[in-house]
Amino acid sequence: MDFTDQRLSYEKGALDQQSVPASPFELFKAWMDEAIAQKVQEPYAMSLATCGADNKPSVRIVLLREITDTGIVFYTNYDSAKGQDVAANPNAEALFFWHELERQVRISGRIAKIDAEKSAAYFQKRPHDSQIGAWVSQPQSGEVANREVMEQTFEQLQAEYADGISVPTPAFWGGYEITVEKIEFWQGRANRMHDRIVYMQDGDSQSAESWTTKRLLP
Ligand SMILES: Cc1cc2nc3c(=O)[nH]c(=O)nc-3n(C[C@H](O)[C@H](O)[C@H](O)COP(=O)(O)O)c2cc1C
Repeated sequence: MDFTDQRLSYEKGALDQQSVPASPFELFKAWMDEAIAQKVQEPYAMSLATCGADNKPSVRIVLLREITDTGIVFYTNYDSAKGQDVAANPNAEALFFWHELERQVRISGRIAKIDAEKSAAYFQKRPHDSQIGAWVSQPQSGEVANREVMEQTFEQLQAEYADGISVPTPAFWGGYEITVEKIEFWQGRANRMHDRIVYMQDGDSQSAESWTTKRLLP
């Protein structure tokens, strides 16, 4: 397959270093609001890149569940391949691509587990059968002989937690926050002359004044 003749001209927006907000969180939330308003399918889906002790990068989609004052939160299995990566190396990068808006946001920083109580509160809000699914997928990323094995475990747990019995929060499951150190906003433009504005943290505090911006060559 050859895609060398396939190209789009990106003409939906522009980014100006002089008029972006002082805090990247403000811009990220504004872009997220627009992605939701434009009905981007799963605007919360982000590619998460990690790199463990073997120095080989891995990337997969996870769902953004919260934008906090300091970073972004997603939930997963702590014993998964990504969990093992971040235990060895807390540096990670997350990427959003919103095709409908011709925008990309790239967030890098350090990952840490969130409070167990907060993870439990979210786990308990999830649909009953998704909670059971989390127990079946342990350890996530481990090998399973076939689908029947998964389905049998699922049915056993459904029977165990029938009649309104609540599913306990697994100790191996919970949230991670990526504390933002750098965010790049990319707006596609015509003729490959895209706008790229990157915010870098200037100090330890996450106040609006602690960020500097740069324009990068596209
Ligand atoms: C749209 C979409 C959303 C997903 N959301 C999550 C998520 O929020 N958490 C998660 O652990 N896996 C999620 N996954 C599955 C991951 O991409 C991945 O298969 C899984 O986490 C195992 O990754 P790992 O082996 O690198 O740890 C999602 C996949 C897709 C396609």
